[in-house]
Amino acid sequence: MALNPYETPRGKMRARAEATRRQFLMIMGGLAAAGASLFGGIEVLKFMFPQASGNAPALFKTSFTFAALTGGVVSGKAVTPVNVLSETDKRVTVVLDDAGIYAVYLVCTHLGCTPNYVTDVTTGSGVAPTVAEARGVRTASQRLPNGWACPCHGSRYFIDSTNFYGPAPRPMDWVNIEVTPDGFFAVDRGTLVATRGPGDNTPPPWRLLVSTQKSNGKTYGV
Ligand code: FES
Repeated sequence: MALNPYETPRGKMRARAEATRRQFLMIMGGLAAAGASLFGGIEVLKFMFPQASGNAPALFKTSFTFAALTGGVVSGKAVTPVNVLSETDKRVTVVLDDAGIYAVYLVCTHLGCTPNYVTDVTTGSGVAPTVAEARGVRTASQRLPNGWACPCHGSRYFIDSTNFYGPAPRPMDWVNIEVTPDGFFAVDRGTLVATRGPGDNTPPPWRLLVSTQKSNGKTYGV
């Protein structure tokens, strides 16, 4: 009768070695799969919940001046009728319209990405450009279909930060802005001057007045 090779001492050792090798490979395969799942899960969470704010202090000074935004002031009015200047890395855009100045905190109300300022905010949304042009306080000749588009999931906002397209549930907030003694702006992202809930399309009345460089005090929703 032929001898079973696995019954010999050498065969048994080889069988044990193969079993150990299989176990080792299975364990390593399991660890690799678990690592890949963990990494994939973290990336999915990062996509779903992007970082809403950096570690920068809430209060900062803009790199542009009051004069740069307004073009100077003549008879209490800005020489440049409308203007938009952004501090993108600080997530704030400063808007000048015919009623004054306000600062929008660029935190998308969907999952916190930073929306980009665009001058064609209605494109592809099914909303007529004239609807966007009518937002803000501007004369007919100054009107633009401008606002913000979120790069993450496509939400759009009019220039007064009212959401009108995509998954964003409510408008973006406005934060406090003042003129510094040396003519720049101090923006305080920790102090809201206008905040609106879902479905509130009212343009906030708060403004930093060009004529006095003071706030009109008309906070909204805070
Ligand atoms: S974070 Fe989702 S649309 Fe802006």
